[in-house]
Amino acid sequence: MDYEKRKKWNVSFDTKCQGTDMSILDQYNAISYPIYQTATFSHRNIGEQTGFDYSRQSNPTRQQVESVVAFLENAEHALAFSSGMAAVAAVMELFHPGDHLIVDEDLYGGSIRLFNTINAKNGIEFTVADVSKGIEEYIRPETRAVYLETPTNPMMHVTDIRELAGITKAHGILLIVDNTFLSPRFQNPLDLGADIVLHSGTKYIAGHHDTIGGFIVLNDDELDARLRLISTTTGSAMAPLDSWLTLRGIRTLAVRMDKAQENAFKIAQYLKESPYVTKVLYPGLPEHPGYEIMKKQASGFGAMISFEVRSAEFARAVLENVELFYFAESLGGTQTLITYPLTQTHAAVPKQLREKNGITDRLLRLSVGIEGAQDLIDEFERVFSAVK
Ligand SMILES: Cc1ncc(COP(=O)(O)O)c(C=O)c1O
Repeated sequence: MDYEKRKKWNVSFDTKCQGTDMSILDQYNAISYPIYQTATFSHRNIGEQTGFDYSRQSNPTRQQVESVVAFLENAEHALAFSSGMAAVAAVMELFHPGDHLIVDEDLYGGSIRLFNTINAKNGIEFTVADVSKGIEEYIRPETRAVYLETPTNPMMHVTDIRELAGITKAHGILLIVDNTFLSPRFQNPLDLGADIVLHSGTKYIAGHHDTIGGFIVLNDDELDARLRLISTTTGSAMAPLDSWLTLRGIRTLAVRMDKAQENAFKIAQYLKESPYVTKVLYPGLPEHPGYEIMKKQASGFGAMISFEVRSAEFARAVLENVELFYFAESLGGTQTLITYPLTQTHAAVPKQLREKNGITDRLLRLSVGIEGAQDLIDEFERVFSAVK
């Protein structure tokens, strides 16, 4: 369905998740969009084709998931990639040697690794700063973009997207927001003035810890064309089966996120009161410094909680003892995961920056799933009293 039609279709987010996109139903009107598991498409004659040529370039199942994700973000365009990192890497290909970017200091470790290794080698210059405190002092004539997450992974810093967009627009630079932590269920950065939105589709969007994917979402036609050329040229687009798994995951995005958030509120409250926990970082707690901004720019607080325990030994023992949920990387699926950012998601972050950000050996990150909330709390009780 094209953007003009989608825009007129004024339905709730829950309905959008059903991905109903009648204009591109397959020839048998299948309700579950088919997996077009094909590398190539045949032609009747020179210049006569079905609109598809070769799946590295475009594929109907991928096109379907792109259309649905664009719909969820109220956007004109979405591009699906083989991973969140492939999407971030494609965005970075928009820049040239000598271009300068201001990037937030607290980001997913893989994004920081990409900037510090591949992008820096290719001549892109970075200023790493806490962008929630302002960016104007870092802007140079060669500055092309500001890059951030909000809330950030894993320290849950919150940036006022609308306020920052006012500054980036005034200076003619791009505002790029990685919206993985809240998903389009709770935040639509393009509506707040961002130019490019990124997602690790692996996380809430697909939502079942069973596939890897990524998205770039935007409204600008020229940038969309450039990014499609980058995707086709580098061969980083999402495969048909992953596109289908993602489409299936999206059907329950609204209910999953609502339930995960409901659990997260209860767990954040529980952790706050636990004598074994020294700090809880959850933007849904009124005392969180980003709480008021979250209320303005997001429709929910998400289900990611970071927390500190009293010692590295205690953190290690918690990880060793969990049974009901898993000690694993990643986030955003139906099952609760507990992660040790120091050695997992943020192992690639330079030590100095990690220490400055507070990614200590006592920090644990929780991706709250959709299990029974009381079961999760009972599990914490059991684990904490077993390791104390
Ligand atoms: C905020 C954020 N952005 C991007 C990524 C990268 O996504 P992927 O693992 O799908 O490549 C991750 C992965 O954890 C993430 O947490």
